[in-house]
Amino acid sequence: MHIDSLNLVYFDKDTSFDYLYPKRIQNLSERHWTPLEIAKKSSEYLSAPNSKVLDIGSGVGKFCITAGFFEPETLFYGVEQRKDLFNLAESVKNTLDLPNVKFIHNNITNLDFELFDSFYFFNSFYENIMPDLGIDHKVAANSELYSHYTNYVYQQLDQMPSGTRLVTYHGSIKQIPSSYKLIDNTHHFALKMWMRE
Ligand SMILES: C[S@@+](CC[C@H](N)C(=O)[O-])C[C@H]1O[C@@H](n2cnc3c(N)ncnc32)[C@H](O)[C@@H]1O
Repeated sequence: MHIDSLNLVYFDKDTSFDYLYPKRIQNLSERHWTPLEIAKKSSEYLSAPNSKVLDIGSGVGKFCITAGFFEPETLFYGVEQRKDLFNLAESVKNTLDLPNVKFIHNNITNLDFELFDSFYFFNSFYENIMPDLGIDHKVAANSELYSHYTNYVYQQLDQMPSGTRLVTYHGSIKQIPSSYKLIDNTHHFALKMWMRE
């Protein structure tokens, strides 16, 4: 597989990529979707030939699609609880013809992390403690769910083998098990690269 130069134009700047989506989704981009630069840097760290990367809460697919485009030998999976966002992610993935990107419509608590090799996490559960800053009001959001989802991810990450890679963008370091060592911390401390010891 190689980079499709015809589609390169979408990855030139964030507004070019966001233009693939309806206006409502474009307006959410700055707060809720990973910037292209962050997706590229993160995917370089997470990728390896034939390995499987999971985006925990994939939204409209901006991380997975960008990562899958620039890292064609790695498989990127995104799990998303909102059906309308999952549908949009599928649609743009098909437009850009990326066979190494897969989206799953489900709640993160139904996925076994052992099926994957590395993980990307953009503070997906924040809407449960700050609902007014959320995407919409289509899903339940409350502090009990924040704890439930955070604890699930924590336990799943902790049981992964030594050498497992994780990238977090924003969010609290309290969400990450102490078994993960911080390897890099950039972009005003928002972008963190971790490795399971
Ligand atoms: C901040 S957005 C990030 C989207 C994507 N990772 C990106 O960077 O472009 C977080 C997403 O996680 C989803 N999400 C939140 N809790 C979830 C859960 N328990 N299971 C699956 N998806 C969830 C939200 O619906 C939202 O689309």
